[in-house]
Amino acid sequence: MTGVVILGIETSCDETGIGIVVGEELRANALASSVDEQARFGGVVPEIASRAHLEAMVPTIERACAEAGVALTDVDAIAVTSGPGLVGSLLVGVSTAKALGAALARPVYGVNHLAAHVVVDELEHGPLPESVIGLLVSGGHTSLIAVGPEGMEALGQTLDDAAGEAFDKVARLLDLPFPGGPAIDECAREGNPEAIAFPRALGGDTLDFSFSGLKTAVLRWLTAQHGEVRRADVAASFQEAVADVLSARALEACRCTGVDHLVVGGGVAANSRLRALVTERADRAGVQVRIPRPGLCTDNGAMVAALGARLVRTGRAPSPSDFPATSSMAVGEIAR
Ligand code: KG4
Ligand code: ZN
Repeated sequence: MTGVVILGIETSCDETGIGIVVGEELRANALASSVDEQARFGGVVPEIASRAHLEAMVPTIERACAEAGVALTDVDAIAVTSGPGLVGSLLVGVSTAKALGAALARPVYGVNHLAAHVVVDELEHGPLPESVIGLLVSGGHTSLIAVGPEGMEALGQTLDDAAGEAFDKVARLLDLPFPGGPAIDECAREGNPEAIAFPRALGGDTLDFSFSGLKTAVLRWLTAQHGEVRRADVAASFQEAVADVLSARALEACRCTGVDHLVVGGGVAANSRLRALVTERADRAGVQVRIPRPGLCTDNGAMVAALGARLVRTGRAPSPSDFPATSSMAVGEIAR
């Protein structure tokens, strides 16, 4: 095997992800999702997620190894998301990583899920510069982070709903299926984004976000209508409000830190309007945007393996054998 072999394990939410990186190359990115089991509840039920991880773990590892043409004994180091996320789900991944580490006598790195969402782009677009801004938008997080050579820093986050959660909740108001993001994206294609002036919360120079007011504004608007509603216009106008705020704050973060590289990650990074608007505004601001392909934006094992590979490459010490699963892992910690 040429190159260091890193096995990455991701279980912070409802996706069991196993990634294998050899050197700087992604060899496998196997995924099992409990989203179908969650759909009838309209959101992620933590207990269902952790049980599904337990069932999926061994078969997903086997699938990844087969895809990569790698035996477990070829693995040089193991990386696992140790936070932030659902604690029961994280525990399945962390326990698996520790068991594999002990059985194979290999180092284990407990890594920060948010940093992994940024570093994964190295697998698609090559090495990242020392300092980058990450805009991470999914069902669980809405964060602006700065990742530098020394560590990472939180610049802003949502004060209430996550961006993806807002898509999911508004989709429900519009009788669109779960998960709501892709459904709204699709529906909005036929709509006019300027039809309804939904609010852009938190003006001024904050880098935080708030989406619960926007969700309420959509609800109020729908309740106030009598007669037929053009659902595509509501979807497009809502999507425009979210994309506007996310892209504006991300570029403001670049401006005020002087960092000229932006990585967008998380499930909402698949949104067509967000991708277009952030690219357009970044071009104007002289910022280089990097958005990994959708399969690397949503939660997956490759991102964890990518961060593990970077930690090994930079000579980071592995985590102590008793490192915990931490649901609210501090943003400052890339690994622990
Ligand atoms: O990263 P992810 O797969 O899982 C976590 O939440 O960690 O993100 C899922 C979220 C869901 O809320 C889903 O509605 C949203 O990403 N999403 C989208 C799109 N595709 C997925 N939101 C907007 N537009 C999309 N095309
Ligand atoms: Zn995530």
